[in-house]
Amino acid sequence: EETPAATLRLLHWYDRHARVLPWRVGPGDRAAGVRPDPYRVWLSEIMLQQTTVAAVRDYFRRFTERWPEVAALAAAEDAEVMAEWAGLGYYARARNLLKGARAVVADHGGRFPDSRDGLLTLPGVGPYTAAAVAAIAFDEPATVVDGNVERVVARLFRIETPLPAAKSELTRAAASLTPAVRPGDHAQAMMDLGATICTPRNPACGLCPLIHGCAARAAGDQATLPRKAPK
Ligand code: ADE
Repeated sequence: EETPAATLRLLHWYDRHARVLPWRVGPGDRAAGVRPDPYRVWLSEIMLQQTTVAAVRDYFRRFTERWPEVAALAAAEDAEVMAEWAGLGYYARARNLLKGARAVVADHGGRFPDSRDGLLTLPGVGPYTAAAVAAIAFDEPATVVDGNVERVVARLFRIETPLPAAKSELTRAAASLTPAVRPGDHAQAMMDLGATICTPRNPACGLCPLIHGCAARAAGDQATLPRKAPK
């Protein structure tokens, strides 16, 4: 399969503009073939569900300083983990985090399953997290769709169907962009583009690597997409 031109442009943009985040491998190491640690990717993706990058950063640092590996987290007391999680919200995630860490140790010899399907068997890991960890940590060409990605593809392909009915159409459109090489960088590039340039209001189209292929920009209605069905 040939990689779409938009995907190549996006990867090139990511090489220069990726956000520097504590769970990512920096550009130099990435070029040298260093792989992200599945434990850190999994932990960051659980924290990033329903929580912004800005809020997660310091929690991620404290967790990984205190529990640098999945075996250390699995051995922690429930109360210690809940206390360290305090302030992040959605506390079911913290309980699932511990269940997930303990399952990796008890059922998988301390190593994360290296496929989307294997990851889905872990407590607390749903389709979104399984796809994200498979793509970012294991280079599986899984498509990762969050709100940022939905917005980018709704605009790029000018999908006017309102959410939530548009979900499957948006997922197919996002999958059409997923490359066989660097799927994890691609997934994170889509998220970074949505978070920093293809923003909900006042998107910075002048800085966007995908401006030439963007159907919504050509029509001038990018700021109105994705549409939402009235509640
Ligand atoms: N949101 C969820 N996962 C993310 C990631 N890996 N990078 C940036 N934003 C994210």
